[in-house]
Amino acid sequence: MSEPKSPEIQSVLTEGRQFPPPKTFSERAVLGSMEAYERLYAESIADPEAFFAERARELHWFTPFKQTREWNHPHVKWFLGGTLNLAYNCLDRHLTTSRRDKAALHWEGENGDTRSLSYLELHREVCRFANVLTQSGLVAGDRVALYMGMVPELVIATLACARIGATHSVIFGGFSATAIADRVNDASARAIVTCDGAWRRGKLVPLKANVDEALDRCPSVERVFVVQRTGNDMNLVEGRDVLWHEAMATASHEHDAAPLDSEHPSFILYTSGTTGKPKGVVHSTAGYLLGAYLTTKYVFDLRDDDVYFCTADVGWITGHTYVVYGPLSNGATVFMYEGAPDFPEKDRFWALIARWKVSIFYTAPTAIRAFIKWGDEHPARHDLSSLRLLGTVGEPINPEAWIWYRKHIGGDRCPIVDTFWQTETGSIMISPLPGATTTTPGSATRPFFGVEADVVRKDGSPCGPDEGGFLVIKQPWPSMLRTVWGDDARYQTQYFSQIPPYYFAGDGARRDALGNFWIMGRIDDVMNVSGHRLGTMEIESALVSHEAVAEAAVVGRPDEATGTAVVAFVSLRPGYSPEAALKEALKGHVTREIGALARPAEIRFTQLLPKTRSGKIMRRLLGDVASNRQTLGDTTTLEDLSVLAALREDQE
Ligand code: WTA
Repeated sequence: MSEPKSPEIQSVLTEGRQFPPPKTFSERAVLGSMEAYERLYAESIADPEAFFAERARELHWFTPFKQTREWNHPHVKWFLGGTLNLAYNCLDRHLTTSRRDKAALHWEGENGDTRSLSYLELHREVCRFANVLTQSGLVAGDRVALYMGMVPELVIATLACARIGATHSVIFGGFSATAIADRVNDASARAIVTCDGAWRRGKLVPLKANVDEALDRCPSVERVFVVQRTGNDMNLVEGRDVLWHEAMATASHEHDAAPLDSEHPSFILYTSGTTGKPKGVVHSTAGYLLGAYLTTKYVFDLRDDDVYFCTADVGWITGHTYVVYGPLSNGATVFMYEGAPDFPEKDRFWALIARWKVSIFYTAPTAIRAFIKWGDEHPARHDLSSLRLLGTVGEPINPEAWIWYRKHIGGDRCPIVDTFWQTETGSIMISPLPGATTTTPGSATRPFFGVEADVVRKDGSPCGPDEGGFLVIKQPWPSMLRTVWGDDARYQTQYFSQIPPYYFAGDGARRDALGNFWIMGRIDDVMNVSGHRLGTMEIESALVSHEAVAEAAVVGRPDEATGTAVVAFVSLRPGYSPEAALKEALKGHVTREIGALARPAEIRFTQLLPKTRSGKIMRRLLGDVASNRQTLGDTTTLEDLSVLAALREDQE
C-alpha cells in the first residue's frame, strides 16, 4: 500500500499494554475464544443476510419476515414483512420460563428508597400503562414524549409505548423547558409522561413545572401523565393532566401487545451534539431490537445470575439500549439508580455495587475521570468483589483512566469492554468480546458482527496501519438509524455525503497492525499544528498519564508561528496544587510522551470542564475561551453554564 503524502490525522499515541481475557472468564463466556469471534465475524461479513436472519429467529415474531434486507442506498430495511413487538420480546416471552419470578428491575432512589419488580410484575405494570395510553386515545404511530427522572415508571412508560406502537421520544430530565418544547414540537407529540419532580444531588428538579412552561408552546399535546415521585406542589390542568397512580389503579393488567411492522419507528431520540441543532434520530423495531439483543448478549456476556448496572440515563441512547431493551430482551436483572454518583458521598456507586451485588458495571470515561479526581479511597472502602465485567462508552478513554478503572474498580480481575457506538448506530459497533478479545487500554479493539468498519482517507481509500483517518461503516447493519425525523435530506447529507458512499458520523480513528481500532475523537476536534493534524484525545491522554492529572481537554488557539498553538485545560488529582512549576513539568511530560510538536503552549488549571449533559467535553467552547473569542454557538446542551464563566475569569 502506498503511503499518503500527508496523513489525514497524525496519530501519536503509543500504548502497548495488553490484557488477555482471564482463562476463568473465557471458560464460562458466551464466546470464549478469538477463533470463534473471527469465524463468526467472517461469516457475518460474507453473508450478513444469512447471519442476521438466523440470529433474528432468536426473537419472538408474530409473523415471520419474508425478506431479510433491502438496501436502497442510503436507506435500508431489515426483516421485511415480519411483525413483532419490543415489549413482548422484553417481557412476555420470559413469562413462560424460569425467569417469570426473577427480578427484572432492582431500583434504588437517591434518598435510599428501593423497589424490585419481577418479570411478571413489570409485565403487569407495562400492560396497565399500555391500557391507560390506549384509553386516552393514543394509537400506534402517535408520538409520546417522556420527560422523567430515573424511576421505574420511566422503564414502564417506555415499554408501554412500545407495546402499543406509540413512537417514544425520551427527553433527558436535565433539559430545560425550551429544549422540551423544541423536541415535542419537532415530533408533534400527542402526550407527555412526566414526574412532579426528580431528586438530583439532594435537590428537587421541578420536572412538571418545566413541562407546564414548555406546553405553552406545544399545541400538539393533549394529555400529560404525572408520576408523583417527590410530592412537591404542582399545577394540574383540568382535562389535560392525569395522575399516573389514579389512572393505573383502574387499568387492567392484561394487554395484547400490538404486532408491529419490522420497520415501525420505535423511537425518536434527539442527539445532544457538541455542535449544531439537535437531530431526531429515528430507529426501527426489528433491526433495532436485534442489535440491542445481540450486542448485550455477546459484549456483556449476560448470565441469568448477573446483576447488571448501566449508569446511563434512559434519556440517552445508552439508557435505551443498555438499560431497557438489550438487557430485558435477554432476560437479565437490571439495576437502576435514580440519582447522582456523589450523593450523599462520593462513594455512592461503590456502595450500590456492594449492596446489590452488581456483577456487570457500565459507565462513561467522564465518570471514571471524576472518580479519579475524587480519590482512590472511595472505592477502596467497599466490597466490589461481586463485579466480573466492566464497560465504558461515550468518549475515547485515556489509557491511564482505563488502567485506574481496571485496578481500583475491577480489582485487576475484570475484563473491560471499551464500546464504541453512537445514537445513530443504535447498538455497539466496535468493542472487545470479554471472553475472547485481548484488550489494550484506549482501544475499542474489533468490530461487532456484521459491522464492516474501516479507516479511510478523504477520498475513501483505506488507510495503512496506524495511519489516522475517517472511521466509516461500509455496509448497513440492522440497528442503523433509518432517517432524521421530518428531515430525510439531512439524514442523507449528514451521514452519507462526506465520504461517499460510506456511513460517516464524524469520528477520526486509526487501525493498528493487529487490526485493533483506536477512536481518536470527533473530526471537528482535530488541530493543525505546524502542518501536523493532531487529534486532541492523544495529547489529553499524554497529560492524563502524568500522576498529577485527573482530566485534561486540549484545544487549538490561532498562532502566528505554528498556525495553531496547543492549549490544555487540566484538572488535578487530590493532593496536587496548581503551581507554575507543575505547568512546566506537564509541558515537558507531553514533549517526552509525544514530541515537541504536541508541546502545549499554555496550560490552564481548572476544577471543572464544560461538558454536554451526557458528559462529553465541549472543546468548541474551550477553544473560544483559549482564543479570547466570544461564544456565539449553541450552548443549550452545556451542562453547567457557570463553568464557562469561571474559565473566562481564570485567565492568566
Ligand atoms: C463518542 C453514545 C471513543 C464518539 C453511545 C461517537 C466514543 C459519539 C466511544 C457518540 C468509545 C462513544 N470510544 N469514542 N468507546 N463511544 N464515543 O451519540 O465520538 O452520545 O461518535 O452515543 O461518542 O455519542 P452518542
